[in-house]
Amino acid sequence: MPLTLPPAHEHLTFMSPMSQARADGLVDFLTRDLPHDATVLDLGCGWAELLLQAVAAHPSCRGIGVDTNEVSLAHGTDLAAARGLTERVELLAADARTAGPPAADAVICVGASHIWQVESAEPQPIPYEAALTALRERTVRGGRVVYGEGIWSRPPTPQATAPLAGRLDEFGSLAELAEIATRSGFAPVIVSEADQGEWDEFESGYLAGHARWLAEHPADHPDADEVRQRAARQRAAYLGGYRGILGLAYLGLVAV
Ligand SMILES: C[S@@+](CC[C@H](N)C(=O)[O-])C[C@H]1O[C@@H](n2cnc3c(N)ncnc32)[C@H](O)[C@@H]1O
Repeated sequence: MPLTLPPAHEHLTFMSPMSQARADGLVDFLTRDLPHDATVLDLGCGWAELLLQAVAAHPSCRGIGVDTNEVSLAHGTDLAAARGLTERVELLAADARTAGPPAADAVICVGASHIWQVESAEPQPIPYEAALTALRERTVRGGRVVYGEGIWSRPPTPQATAPLAGRLDEFGSLAELAEIATRSGFAPVIVSEADQGEWDEFESGYLAGHARWLAEHPADHPDADEVRQRAARQRAAYLGGYRGILGLAYLGLVAV
């Protein structure tokens, strides 16, 4: 039987380093001035927490999330029901490159640019331009986009790149990303990145599933060594590698 750790949503509110204060600001940016019958589209939505918060913040918009991970979507569907949003939220199990409406009034895409990655045997740089071009095509003129993606916060070291794709050009800087967004047909309004506290909370939440598994299984369980090793690798990758170097940019963009 393959080893199954508790799903990330059991220990994380968002599948990215994002505080509730940041989410509130991004939701306000997305939903302020939205038309009455607006559509908010989340491409690579995971369990769609930010989409659900956007729909809850607006009295009449509808939300559509698209993802290929059925476990995450099932959790998002439960969250929507628990918040009384079922009537206004649709979560589609499909490829976000083609599924969902052709264009929406507001679009979310956080940590999911790889959807537009050209397949390759080798790890590739994040396809910012392909993702932002696709997002622009899916956003009405004047519509708003929240785009979140990895960046280098500081020049990468060999210790930082080793547990990631192993290449210095995997990510760009925040300034480069804002430039690519502008080239892709957006006017940036919010240009920000997650702080260290958001990162530490995210990485801790990610590892909490490993700790829970170890607490719930006997120490000599046949999979226990594997779980301990995975947790140790992740801790070393973060604390001894990319902490403070890998960043997460959050852009608030207007389609122009
Ligand atoms: C890092 S997660 C981000 C999830 C969510 N946006 C969030 O911030 O919580 C990336 C998501 O992209 C989804 N994904 C990958 N390829 C996809 C595709 N072709 N179409 C739709 N979703 C895809 C994955 O299943 C995963 O849920």
